[in-house]
Amino acid sequence: MSRIERAIEEAARARQQQPAAEPATLVPVTRLVRAGNPEALLATPPLEIHNPLIVAAGEGDLAAREEYKKLRSLVVRQTRGESFANTLLVTSTFGEEGKSITALNLAITLAQEYDHTVLLVDADLRRPALHRYLGVQPEVGLIQCLDGSATLPQALIKTGLGKLVLLPAGGSVSNPAELLGSKRMLELIDELKHRYPDRYIIFDTPPTLPFADAQVLAAGVDGVLFVVREGVATLGDIKESLSSLQRARLLGVVYNDTLFPRKKGIYYY
Ligand SMILES: Nc1ncnc2c1ncn2[C@@H]1O[C@H](COP(=O)(O)OP(=O)(O)OP(=O)(O)O)[C@@H](O)[C@H]1O
Ligand SMILES: [Mg+2]
Repeated sequence: MSRIERAIEEAARARQQQPAAEPATLVPVTRLVRAGNPEALLATPPLEIHNPLIVAAGEGDLAAREEYKKLRSLVVRQTRGESFANTLLVTSTFGEEGKSITALNLAITLAQEYDHTVLLVDADLRRPALHRYLGVQPEVGLIQCLDGSATLPQALIKTGLGKLVLLPAGGSVSNPAELLGSKRMLELIDELKHRYPDRYIIFDTPPTLPFADAQVLAAGVDGVLFVVREGVATLGDIKESLSSLQRARLLGVVYNDTLFPRKKGIYYY
């Protein structure tokens, strides 16, 4: 077994053993989105978030908030071309590199800009984390939308954080790549894309080297944001991971959690 294969196996095993995200007190969801009423999103009280890594209104490190605003500008610049490329996927080489935090912070930052409605989809059907970071306990989500046991309006959750809506995973499954690569998933992406043509849709996914999920999903979205956490993957791992996403358009790389000392104009995010 090669070094990379061994590393992939170890990463996959370690990921299965770790609990997803921080434990949080989860509240049942009573804030489903009524179809066709996007303005009501702004009238929803915001979910309370007490995680310093999450940049909800007034929360989170100021320098980090500035970095996410820069990321937002870069993403908007790259996606608002002649035709609006509104479906993005966030992935990384290995687990725990900060995909979910990046997807969530980018989504919040985009949603807080008045004209950007954002749908954040938890497509990590192995270890979903976004509902935990937001402190909600959804009953249904993407999985049920795909197996036909729920409709989209039954699964979408208003966060009250600007116009941010969450489509949670709705649990975990043992065959996510199959589900994510299914005809129904492509139809769902298409439905979301065309139902909300002015809406950013951001997919959080599992890491790329241990699992095929992000690779499969990347074929159906407009662009990929790749997270690299300092000190986790080697350059070789990152190159291998990026080459597995070759069919996707790489929007950029987010370098996360660096120890690089803060200097004027340079932040640790
Ligand atoms: N910049 C950062 N500074 C400090 N801690 C961070 C940073 N980014 C992420 N973390 C922490 O690292 C852990 C993993 O973050 P996150 O859930 O975003 O990673 P992930 O890549 O989505 O992981 P997984 O592969 O399990 O889905 C969390 O405990 C999170 O709080
Ligand atoms: Mg995650």
